Amino acid sequence: MKIAILPGDGIGTEIVAEAVKVLKVLDLPFEMETAPVGGAAYEAAGHPLPDSTLALAKAADAVLFGAVGDWKYDTLERRLRPEQAILGLRKELGLFANFRPAICYPELTHASSLKPELVAGLDILIIRELTGDIYFGQPRGRRTAVDGHFPGSEEAFDTMRYSRPEIERIAHVAFQAARKRNRKVTSVDKANVLETFQFWKDVVTEVHAQYPDVELEHMYVDNAAMQLVKAPKKFDVVVTGNMFGDILSDEAAMLTGSIGMLPSASLNAANQGLYEPSHGSAPDIAGKGIANPLATILSAAMMLKFSLNQPEAAARIEAAVQSVLSQGLRTADIYSEGTRKVSTREMGDAVVAALTGATMTK
Ligand code: IPM
Ligand code: MN
Repeated sequence: MKIAILPGDGIGTEIVAEAVKVLKVLDLPFEMETAPVGGAAYEAAGHPLPDSTLALAKAADAVLFGAVGDWKYDTLERRLRPEQAILGLRKELGLFANFRPAICYPELTHASSLKPELVAGLDILIIRELTGDIYFGQPRGRRTAVDGHFPGSEEAFDTMRYSRPEIERIAHVAFQAARKRNRKVTSVDKANVLETFQFWKDVVTEVHAQYPDVELEHMYVDNAAMQLVKAPKKFDVVVTGNMFGDILSDEAAMLTGSIGMLPSASLNAANQGLYEPSHGSAPDIAGKGIANPLATILSAAMMLKFSLNQPEAAARIEAAVQSVLSQGLRTADIYSEGTRKVSTREMGDAVVAALTGATMTK
C-alpha cells in the first residue's frame, strides 16, 4: 500500500509530521512518500501542483494532505496560488465525494461557542460535492458587460452548473452513508432562486426512490445555516453542492469547539482518497509548535478505514485520540482551565503512547 504524504504550507508540515509518526507505530505494510504541494511547491518548483507531485498522488492508494495557502501568495496570478493545488488534486483524481464529520467530543462540549446542551453528543456528517458547481463551471472570467445594470463596464462572472450524473452519484453516497447512521438525509439547495439547485433537488428526490428506508428532507441553504446553530442535533447527513458545502462545513466545524479536531475524506469512484484536516494552513501560528494535530491524525484514521481497508487500525487511532482527551491533554485551540496545555509534538507523542500502550495490553 502506498501513501502519498503532501504536507503543504503553514502548520501543514507540523501536523502531518505527527500523523506520520502515528502511522509508523502501527507497523503496517505502508510505503510513504513525501512531495511538496501548495506554496512550498511553488517555491521549490514554480508551480503549486508540480507534475511529479500529481503523479505521486495518482499512483498512491491514498493521499494524506496537510494544508495549503499563505497570504503572501495572494498577489500571484490565480493558476499559481497554493489553493490551486488542492483544487487540481480534487479535479485530477476525481474526488467528488467529500465527507466532513462534525463530532462534539464530550470533553470539548464547553469549548463550543454554543450552549453545551445544544452540542452535547453532536454527530453530524456533511457530504459536500467536490468537483462541480461554481468552483469548476466554465466559462468564467472578466469582460466588458454588454447588458445588466451597467453595460459597457468591467464585470466578472462564474458559472454554476451540475449535470444529472454528478448529482446522482453524490446522492447515492449520501443515502448509503445515512443507512450506516440514523437514516436521515437533509439535501441543502437554493431551489427557490437557482435553476441549478432546482435541478439538484429534483434529481436527489428521484434517487431517493431507491432508498425508501432513509428519510429525505430538503432545506434552503440560508435556513440550513440558521438551523445549524439553532438545533444542530436535528441533522444526521447533510448533502449539498460544492460552494454551499464549503460554507456550511466551516459553520458545522465550529459547533464542535474547534475546527482543529475535524478530519475529512475526499473520495473518488474507486475509493481512492485524499485525507486532510478540515482546517487550513493557519500561517499566523505556523512554526510555533502549537497547532492541533488531532484533525490530521483522525484524517489518517479515516484513510485507514476508507482507502486502505484497515478498520481496526483506524479504530485504535480513534480510541487513542479519545484517550489523550480523557487524560486532559489539550493544544491551545481546545485548552480550558483545569486541563494541560501541550504542544503539537507533545500531542502527537501522547497519541503514540496511547496507541503503543493499547498494543501492549492487547
Ligand atoms: C476547503 C477550502 C478550499 C475550498 C480552498 C482552500 C480552495 O476552503 O477545503 O474547504 O474552498 O474548497
Ligand atoms: Mn473551506
